[in-house]
Amino acid sequence: GKVAVLFGGKSAEREVSLNSGTAVLQGLQRAGVDAYPFDPATRPLAELAAFDTAFVVLHGRGGEDGSVQGALELMGIPYTGSRIMGCAVAMDKVRTKWLWRGLDLPTAKFEVVEKEKFCDKDAAAIMARLGSPVMVKPANEGSSVGMAKASDPDALLGAVQSALKYDNTVLIEAWIHGPEYTVAILDGQALPVIRMETDHEFYDYDAKYVTGDTRYLIPCGLSQAEELAMQELALKAFASVGGGGWGRVDVMRDAEGNFQLLEVNTVPGMTETSLVPKAAAAAGIDFDSLVVRILDLAR
Ligand code: DAL
Ligand code: MG
Repeated sequence: GKVAVLFGGKSAEREVSLNSGTAVLQGLQRAGVDAYPFDPATRPLAELAAFDTAFVVLHGRGGEDGSVQGALELMGIPYTGSRIMGCAVAMDKVRTKWLWRGLDLPTAKFEVVEKEKFCDKDAAAIMARLGSPVMVKPANEGSSVGMAKASDPDALLGAVQSALKYDNTVLIEAWIHGPEYTVAILDGQALPVIRMETDHEFYDYDAKYVTGDTRYLIPCGLSQAEELAMQELALKAFASVGGGGWGRVDVMRDAEGNFQLLEVNTVPGMTETSLVPKAAAAAGIDFDSLVVRILDLAR
């Protein structure tokens, strides 16, 4: 049947989604799938009724947060990836961390700031509790949009004010001194772990998409037992938010060697050089086979 590849959208990650979606569309078409581009930013969702399946490649709010998934449920159109709940929880980094804390899954210490309740002098108290430096994140963004490292209360105040431009809720985490890893998940299986090495302060938007200077290590340098443990942790983390089909869990390894969960992406980047395609390639799955497998999991 006809497949709509949903990409673009109106979130801060629109540009990333345009790249992901173009790659997915081309991969599906090369594989012989009857696939068409569909940008919800420019077309009424009701026009999806003309399609048999939706491949969701929207990143961020209005696409990775359960809203489009809800519309597809109501229209009775099978779609790829996580259901409404998984998307909604994973989009919200604060609720994701509350959930992990409740389940005793490892994640860095954190505090939450709400726009209405935050006053400038809170910055010093928060830093006193979390230590320095800290990482500041809008609760509902992706691709490191709006994120900043802060090493003193003044910088923290500035970082919170910037993050509050993206979201009414801001997450502040104790800094993790250690490398970042990612675990791609496909059909209930974890793919080989990737380690990202960057000379930037952290794996930020530029390191992801602009400067091209990030080093991606596969194999990731962990021992076999450690890699297996990270994959198991990622599968638990993905299941805990209600993830399904495919996705990607970001993890760090702190100075003591403990894994610390960062977040779950229910619609990870899918350009041909993105992380999930790299992990799939390491498992012997080429890009076109990967997108076909993800499509086959649509329900
Ligand atoms: N949010 C971006 C697309 C990612 O996680 O890959
Ligand atoms: Mg993300």
